Amino acid sequence: MDLLIKNGTIVTATETYEADVAVDGGKIAAIGTEFNEKDFTEVADAKGKYVLPGAIDGHTHLALAFGGTISSDDYYAGTRSAACGGTTTVFDFVQQGQGERMLDAVKRRDAMASVDAAVDYSFHIGVGDVNTKEMLDSMEEAVEYGIPSFKVFMVYDFGVDDGSFYKVLQKSTEIGALVGVHAENRDVNNLLVERYLSEGKTEAWWHYMAKNEMVEGEADVRAINLAKMAGAPLYIVHLADEMGMKAVTEAQNEGYPIFAETCPQYLHFTNEVYKRERGRDFVCSPPMKNQASQDAIWDGIQNGSITTVATDHCPFTQAEKDWGITKKDGTPGDFTTIPNGCAGVENMYPYMLAQAVSGRITMNKAVELCATNPSKLFGLDYCKGAIRVGLDADLVIYDPEKAFTITNDAMHGDTDHTIWEGVQLKGYPEATYSRGNLVFKDGEFLGKRGDGKLIKCKKLSFTGPEL
Ligand code: URP
Ligand code: ZN
Ligand code: ZN
Repeated sequence: MDLLIKNGTIVTATETYEADVAVDGGKIAAIGTEFNEKDFTEVADAKGKYVLPGAIDGHTHLALAFGGTISSDDYYAGTRSAACGGTTTVFDFVQQGQGERMLDAVKRRDAMASVDAAVDYSFHIGVGDVNTKEMLDSMEEAVEYGIPSFKVFMVYDFGVDDGSFYKVLQKSTEIGALVGVHAENRDVNNLLVERYLSEGKTEAWWHYMAKNEMVEGEADVRAINLAKMAGAPLYIVHLADEMGMKAVTEAQNEGYPIFAETCPQYLHFTNEVYKRERGRDFVCSPPMKNQASQDAIWDGIQNGSITTVATDHCPFTQAEKDWGITKKDGTPGDFTTIPNGCAGVENMYPYMLAQAVSGRITMNKAVELCATNPSKLFGLDYCKGAIRVGLDADLVIYDPEKAFTITNDAMHGDTDHTIWEGVQLKGYPEATYSRGNLVFKDGEFLGKRGDGKLIKCKKLSFTGPEL
């Protein structure tokens, strides 16, 4: 057999126990305590360490054309960074073009990802055009191919109106798909932008004010109501506000299949970051909110209303963030000319696991949010997200004693800064295996460009809030 990880403590979403993991042909071949080391090509000693399933980041934007530039991690840099933070699968977004069939959009992006990705990946499809029956119906082809997840934007100029959103929701129930939503009220956001700029309010703080708690919360509530009307499940991505959190919990308590994702940046930072000298580095959508919202999201983690944690990894360089001061063309910039998004793919699992080491959540909960729930929600539980015989050997050896201070120098992406600079974590991944191959060890990336493969997902169907 290929690999034995011995003496570790296995942590899954539901169990914690001491056992060895045997890997062969990229799969978990056996779990037990009676293995003979001589039967293995490679042996890793995990004494005093945890052995965890690799994380699944359900939300990345690699090589995304956005805000007049392209996010600075391509499929290689982004997945390299993922591997070094214990993430072994990423779900990236494909944006459907006008008149483009959904599956063609997937294949267009997969041509880039398949040659570059260092860990496994799959896609969500950003809905760009469902104006004709042909475009709407093309959702089904993508589902049959293994991409059953769609995202609707209620904001941005390329977002869709409520009627299209409703059509997509209805369609999803016929074909076994799940619809995710970026919920912010576009019209109010646009009006607030206009008002603040006319008053000369150009700093990053006004990005937050134009996308404040109510701007997100109203859209969350509307999205949930549309899903109820359509009789469809719904996944609210990057939830960051108290009103939305309450609406999700309420809908779940009523028995609706409403799911929510949040991101580590909303759990760690508040809107205060926009008052910092480089507040523009933190500009992302939705923006970080007030303390009450952060507290509500932590409550959602504790009470099970938050289903997944993902990163919304979408890095831009500081020079690009500086377009909020001076635009590319040399004219004065403002908060609307800052590309939206921050790096985070390497920080998610370490951050959430450190919350477990510090006792805020359990290790099982961190695994559930970052690995097991995304695998179930997106239809990957047949191959990933747990430690079970027959699943892919996507594994992380985690040292709960290792102290780690996040610095951009210690990260493995292509970005030149991190909003997480200086944040201290107790506990850090020591090694990451992707389908049994060692891709990260002791701070060093050991994987290979192109080794990641597209993982196809099962059809999806949810009748209630349980996965
Ligand atoms: O600021 C963000 N999140 N940029 C990426 C696009 C999105 O809305 O997810
Ligand atoms: Zn979004
Ligand atoms: Zn996003």
